[in-house]
Amino acid sequence: MTQKLILAVSGSPSPTSKTARVVDHLLDNVVCEDFVSHHLKVRDLPTKALLRGDLSDPLMADAVEAVQRAQGVLIATPIYKASYSGLLKSFLDILPQFGLAGKVVLPCATGGSVAHVLALDYGFRPVLQSMGARHIIQSVFVLEGDVRIDGEAFTVEGPTSAMLNEAAYHFRSALGLEPGHDLLGHPNPSPAAIRACHAPSLPLDVRP
Ligand SMILES: Cc1cc2nc3c(=O)[nH]c(=O)nc-3n(C[C@H](O)[C@H](O)[C@H](O)COP(=O)(O)O)c2cc1C
Repeated sequence: MTQKLILAVSGSPSPTSKTARVVDHLLDNVVCEDFVSHHLKVRDLPTKALLRGDLSDPLMADAVEAVQRAQGVLIATPIYKASYSGLLKSFLDILPQFGLAGKVVLPCATGGSVAHVLALDYGFRPVLQSMGARHIIQSVFVLEGDVRIDGEAFTVEGPTSAMLNEAAYHFRSALGLEPGHDLLGHPNPSPAAIRACHAPSLPLDVRP
């Protein structure tokens, strides 16, 4: 039997992409024995075939097939010019019209400031919705200043770390990996959790 797949697609052209590192961190928090994971960096696809939508290229065909096969898709982008990256859009444009049908999708972005945090909800979410995603998790936006990358070491602290854990938890819940939670990862927050939301130095915990 083919194992179930969580596919991450990241769309930064940078060889030292912070977005890709955030994605790897999220995947570490999501994957379990029920799923295998794979991180597709769009920058690694053959440029000419990508720009021409040439699916006769085996790497392109494999990438499209991986999206088709996945139950959960984490789609991540750097914020460029107040929107998602053109590189990511190039890839989304070669997928079928309803290429995300039936899938659980977690949108993610990194950005230089909070000025464009709504790009995820106003610009990116409609694209994913138009592609038929079954359930789009609350998107997660990470300020580049909140992550520290030193070679192989990746650290993220405080509220950002808690927010990434929450995103991973919601994704797992929507994929049915958190038995006992029937609200797709959105249980009613406890009073303590609401208080924590107003104290940014404390980790969020909305689990009942
Ligand atoms: C060409 C370019 C445009 C950018 N535009 C924005 C922007 O409009 N808003 C923003 O918050 N950050 C912007 N940034 C900052 C990036 O979003 C931020 O550095 C991000 O973490 C880069 O992710 P990456 O390393 O995965 O490419 C821009 C960066 C570049 C290189």
